Amino acid sequence: MAVALLVAAGSGERLGADRPKAFVVLAGRPMLEWSVEALRAAGVEEIVVALPPGGSAPPGCVGVAGGATRSGSVRSALGAASAGEDVVVHDAARPLVTPAHFTAAFAALAHADAAIAAAPMTDTVKEAGEDRRVTATLDRSRLWAIQTPQAFRRAALERALAVDDAVLAAATDDAWLVERAGGTVRVVESTPENFKVTTAHDLRVAELLLGERRRG
Ligand code: CTP
Ligand code: MG
Repeated sequence: MAVALLVAAGSGERLGADRPKAFVVLAGRPMLEWSVEALRAAGVEEIVVALPPGGSAPPGCVGVAGGATRSGSVRSALGAASAGEDVVVHDAARPLVTPAHFTAAFAALAHADAAIAAAPMTDTVKEAGEDRRVTATLDRSRLWAIQTPQAFRRAALERALAVDDAVLAAATDDAWLVERAGGTVRVVESTPENFKVTTAHDLRVAELLLGERRRG
C-alpha cells in the first residue's frame, strides 16, 4: 500500500495572501484539496498532511504539525505514516497535479529508489557569475525542471532523511537527499502545467485552469 505525504506547512511568503498558501481558496476550494482529490483518484487512501500553525487536515486525512523547512515537514509527515512500502511526497502548492502523475511515479519505482516528476527544459539555461558575465551554456537536452510528485521506496526515504538539520535545510527537494545517500533517482516525464503556485501570477493562472477543469 502506498502512503502520500502532502506538504502544506509553508507560509506562502512570496504569494503574500491573508493565510497560508495551501489554504488559499482556488476555484472554490482550499488549494490543498485539489491534490487530495487527485491522490484519491489515483487510489492512494492514506494521506498525511504537514500543516502550518492553525491549519486543519481535509476530511479523511491525518494532520501533523509541519517542520521549519520543507524537508523537515516531510520528515514529520513520514513519522506519522503507517507502514507502507512506497511513499509519495507532493507539494500542496501544485494543485494542477493529475492522478496520472502519481501512477506514473509509482510505476517508475520498479527501477529506482526514487522516481520524480520532471518537465524537459524549454528555455536555454546559462550560468553567470556575480558580475553577470556568462560562464557556461548548459546542454538543454539533458536538463529537467523538477516537480512533485516524488515517489520513494520507504526505506530509501527514511535513510535519506536521517541527516542533521543543516543538510535538511539545504534540500530543495527530497530526491537530492536520496542522491546524496547513494540511491538511484529517475525522472518521470511531466509537463509544465503541473507548475508550483508561488506568486500571485501563478495563482491567477491556476484559478483559470482549475475553473475550466471544474466546469468540465
Ligand atoms: N512547505 C512545508 N513546510 C515548510 C515549507 C514549505 O510543508 N516549512 C511546503 C509548502 O506548503 C509547499 C511546498 O512545501 O506546499 C513547496 O514550498 P513553497 O512553494 O516554497 O511554499 P512556501 O514555503 O509556503 O512559500 P514561500 O517560500 O513563498 O514562503
Ligand atoms: Mg518556501
